[in-house]
Amino acid sequence: MNRREFVQAAAGAASGLMILKPGTVFAYDANSAVRLGLLGCGNRGTHVASSFAQNTSAQVVALADLFHDQLKAGETHFNALNANLGHAAIDKSLLFRGPDAYEQLAGSSAVDLIQISTPPFFHVQHLGAAVAAGKHVYCEKPVGIDVAQARQALEIGKRVKPTQSVDVGFQCRSAPPIAAIAEKIHGGALGKIASVSGYYFAPASVEKVAAGASADEHRLRNWLWDRALSGDILVEQNIHIIDLSNWLLGAHPVKATATGGRNILTHEGDCWDNYQVDFAYPGDARLSFSSTQFGSYGLFEAGLRLFGGSGAATVPYAGAVQIVGAQPWAWTDAAKPSAAQGKFAANGAFEDNLAFADRDKERTFIDSIVSGPVHNQIAAGVETALSCMLGRMAGYRRREVTWEELLSHGETYKLGMDLRQFA
Ligand SMILES: NC(=O)c1ccc[n+]([C@@H]2O[C@H](COP(=O)([O-])OP(=O)(O)OC[C@H]3O[C@@H](n4cnc5c(N)ncnc54)[C@H](O)[C@@H]3O)[C@@H](O)[C@H]2O)c1
Repeated sequence: MNRREFVQAAAGAASGLMILKPGTVFAYDANSAVRLGLLGCGNRGTHVASSFAQNTSAQVVALADLFHDQLKAGETHFNALNANLGHAAIDKSLLFRGPDAYEQLAGSSAVDLIQISTPPFFHVQHLGAAVAAGKHVYCEKPVGIDVAQARQALEIGKRVKPTQSVDVGFQCRSAPPIAAIAEKIHGGALGKIASVSGYYFAPASVEKVAAGASADEHRLRNWLWDRALSGDILVEQNIHIIDLSNWLLGAHPVKATATGGRNILTHEGDCWDNYQVDFAYPGDARLSFSSTQFGSYGLFEAGLRLFGGSGAATVPYAGAVQIVGAQPWAWTDAAKPSAAQGKFAANGAFEDNLAFADRDKERTFIDSIVSGPVHNQIAAGVETALSCMLGRMAGYRRREVTWEELLSHGETYKLGMDLRQFA
């Protein structure tokens, strides 16, 4: 049994795992679990931490959240999950609430890995605390919502120790059909790629209402509507497709022109509900990207089409993943037909081509912690976040913006509230 097979088998036998504190990376043995602390017990955080617990040797031992109700819901959920897996309930001393919860979690010696699943505005601050505390980190995308945060993240990335592993939540790269077609494309199956078409058509997000919530609390709970908290839909949601484009083209865009606006949504907030962006990559390759985030009629489509001199590839979330041309190829997997229907999942738990994306991403990450080599995905995560900021800035300014201009003059965002009110 090799290392990977062990990690996969360990998931099935997770109930037999003991909690042992490793001194350094690679000090884990077959009896140890990676002790996971979840920061941000919301929709995505709960899904990913549950998946870690069910599919890897990680065990959820600590929780942190700004709000009491979210922390309580997390405690109830993970105590039930831990009981099912044969693990102890979460120790009450490892439940952290309030604006300092991220620092208390980072300061806990009972945690090896911090999963950051808070709203995007806080990612870099929370990443900084977790890295400084020597924890392994799984940080949701985006790594930064403005250029200042992106620069800060790059500095944090330089301080990651050789014993720490840090992943960024681009799970689409790990989806088996997408990983397989990427290997073909990276191997030259399309010839020179000249043109890419990308799209992310998603439904509107649903308002979260908490009884008696102040305006600041309502804003925080509906962070998806808010530019400063989310980075806008291009940086927060569409980033998955722009990340795939960068990965498949092997570069970041050098400039962009864009339009878009807020044409349908009328609720509070300042995020746009549609974007049309033309990204120019090195070698004059172009990505024409289109996105919407409104409506409740169930339409959901996301993916890419890449056109090269000797072949064209289709890389959708749902539907056939294939290449036509000189080197034809198609994904086939009887266990999970690639033609599965596309259905939006706000927590990223898609049942289509992404069905195993989270599981495989988490297994590879835990493998990097347990047996190495460690990951440091911060700089790559920042590059994709900046690519999205490039399109966002071009849209807001309604003119061409270059990568250099973005880095020199990119927008900065302020939170505009004091989190101490939630202490
Ligand atoms: N990779 C994916 O496919 C995917 C899918 C969905 C969401 N996400 C990302 O996951 C993150 C969380 O999204 P979500 O949908 O779970 O949001 P959510 O609102 O459901 O959960 C966020 C949680 O963070 C808590 N929180 C807010 N501010 C905090 C702070 N300062 N300190 C501690 N806790 C705080 C909230 O109370 C809430 O429990 C976002 O960054 C989002 O972009 C990724």
